[in-house]
Amino acid sequence: MEHGGDEIIPRAAVIGWPVAHSRSPKLHGFWLQQHGIIGRYDRIPVPPEELGDFLAALPKEPGFRGVNVTVPHKLAVLPYLAGIDPVARRIGAVNTIVVQPDGSLTGSNTDAFGFLENLAAGAPAGWTAAAAPAVVLGAGGGARAVLAALLDAGAPEIRLVNRSAGKAADLAAEFDPRRIRPVGWDDRADALGGAGLLVNTTSLGMAGQPPLDLALDDLPASALVNDIVYAPLETDLLARAAARGNPVVDGLGMLLHQGRPGFAAWFGVAPAVTPALRAAVLAE
Ligand code: ATR
Repeated sequence: MEHGGDEIIPRAAVIGWPVAHSRSPKLHGFWLQQHGIIGRYDRIPVPPEELGDFLAALPKEPGFRGVNVTVPHKLAVLPYLAGIDPVARRIGAVNTIVVQPDGSLTGSNTDAFGFLENLAAGAPAGWTAAAAPAVVLGAGGGARAVLAALLDAGAPEIRLVNRSAGKAADLAAEFDPRRIRPVGWDDRADALGGAGLLVNTTSLGMAGQPPLDLALDDLPASALVNDIVYAPLETDLLARAAARGNPVVDGLGMLLHQGRPGFAAWFGVAPAVTPALRAAVLAE
């Protein structure tokens, strides 16, 4: 294909406000180059008051196949979509929009998929979410995707630990009161007994945030430990878990894997997550 002046090239973008920090352009840019696709993936700052106009104009932009959606628009885009996939409805947030051939917009949420694919890629052979209780720390937006994923993956029990007890109770009631058990923040260390998975979705341990204060003594050595935070890549939680012999999976893979369905829908190629991709996305 010639990169001619008038040629319409396929495009996608990430929208947010602000959006400067997003690593999605690196992710999709790597895949475009790897697959030799002449296309674009941009970073577009969209202020909240312009979101409706932006989405209305999207199907009229030549070549525009869709967008990733980040903070603060993940919920706000819902009224503008002609179709929303069931997982996105359950999570209550959309991160991927596809412009359909008829110009309508459909939304999905690929975070739950990305979370599970990341665990599957990093876990020891034979590990499965269905085998033992999971402990999830946090009850914010990240936790919603993790809960949807773990319930779909057959987790027998999810111990949902959160500082604000009411939020954990609300999430349990909304998602699955039979399998999700809210646990008070002060009981977090005791919740680790017999667990097969520990996931941190709180902001604790992120660069610039306080560390996660959690004694791991009761966590079985076979339990997989994951932090959905990826800055830093090795959080204090992951370092301590690895030091005592637990298998660990860092948070970057969730970002990489969640991008796969969008790229496939927009550019027609199913991309892979590889060490080279990780390195490219991590490079400043
Ligand atoms: P996200 O959408 O990224 O999940 P969020 O909605 O801001 O982010 O949620 C942040 C999570 O980190 C919440 O579970 C929050 O606990 P509260 O619901 O009690 O606010 C948790 N969190 C943040 N700071 C914390 C702290 N100092 N101690 C314990 N939990 C904390």
